[in-house]
Amino acid sequence: MNEPMNDSVRIVEVGPRDGLQNEKPIVPTATKIALIDRLSAAGLRSIEATSFVSPKWIPQLADAAEVFAGIQKFEGVSYPVLVPNLQGYERALAVGVREVALFTGASEAFTRQNINASIEESIDRFRPILERAGNDGVRVRGYVSTTLGCPYQGAVDVRDVVRVARRIHDLGCYEVSLGDTIGVGTPSKARAMLKAVADEVPMGALAVHFHDTRGQALANVFACVEEGVRVVDAAVSGLGGCPYATGASGNVATEDVVYLLHGMGFVTGVDLDALVETGQWISNEIGRLNGSKFGRALAATTAAA
Ligand code: HMG
Ligand code: MG
Repeated sequence: MNEPMNDSVRIVEVGPRDGLQNEKPIVPTATKIALIDRLSAAGLRSIEATSFVSPKWIPQLADAAEVFAGIQKFEGVSYPVLVPNLQGYERALAVGVREVALFTGASEAFTRQNINASIEESIDRFRPILERAGNDGVRVRGYVSTTLGCPYQGAVDVRDVVRVARRIHDLGCYEVSLGDTIGVGTPSKARAMLKAVADEVPMGALAVHFHDTRGQALANVFACVEEGVRVVDAAVSGLGGCPYATGASGNVATEDVVYLLHGMGFVTGVDLDALVETGQWISNEIGRLNGSKFGRALAATTAAA
């Protein structure tokens, strides 16, 4: 294993946004708020709370303003929200958001389906938001989707991933999250993609974001942490998917990532028992199987005892 750059890994909990945007039932606002409050109490320090996209495109998160206004803002915790354009930024700012996440892709076809724009147009939309955010003191994170494959075009050239990641970092995104939107990557490909991007963007400004569609997400996290990344996106109980990537399943489960990282000797600051309880609770609330293997194992052990 490479020498760790330091001994802590930051988890960006994306369940309330990436997860709930793609759960079939519309989750009540109060449940979303309770979920985020529980995640804050479990020690997560970055929680993507919701998204201010078009409610016609994502009806599941139409209550973004109410959710953001309703959550407890824990000291030292960042609550970024996803924003697709200046209109979304204005809506977010109006309720006191202090960090936004912008998103584009490495594949033209996916970007067109997801936000009705080319990659170039989507990056053009970043500019006025970054300018406003700079003046407002709002932090801006960036996503690159389809870094390991696209549901429409298939293979994605790693040079496209590097080019887009570098551009949005150069434009002012403090961190770039590399998304395997359809969970098609395997560890050696994930590692090679991360390494190629890290040649152009500092590793300290990168995060990884794996969906678990083919059961590779945890292995991909392991490979990328070995490669040196220290920020990992994950969703409690593996909630969700992506509405514009048919068949995509949820993000890697936060419980499983935390268990892995603690086993590797990293510090995350997360209380795993409280997190598991939260994962079981939200799974019951929305009537789905808990997508965390660790969560299910603990529940089975507790039930047997
Ligand atoms: P459009 O239809 O081209 O937008 O959609 P438009 O600018 O032509 O506006 C059309 C209507 O939408 C107008 O209303 C606007 O006011 C309204 P009308 O006049 O018809 O009544 N509108 C908005 N309303 C509220 N908030 C807004 C907003 N913007 C426009 N912000 C648009 C373009 C980008 C808005 C749309 O395509 C959209 O919202 N897309 C979001 C799709 C999405 O959320 N996808 C999932 C998130 S990405 C993801 O999950 C991947 C990630 O996890 C990483 C990974 O896994 O790889 C991040
Ligand atoms: Mg995602």
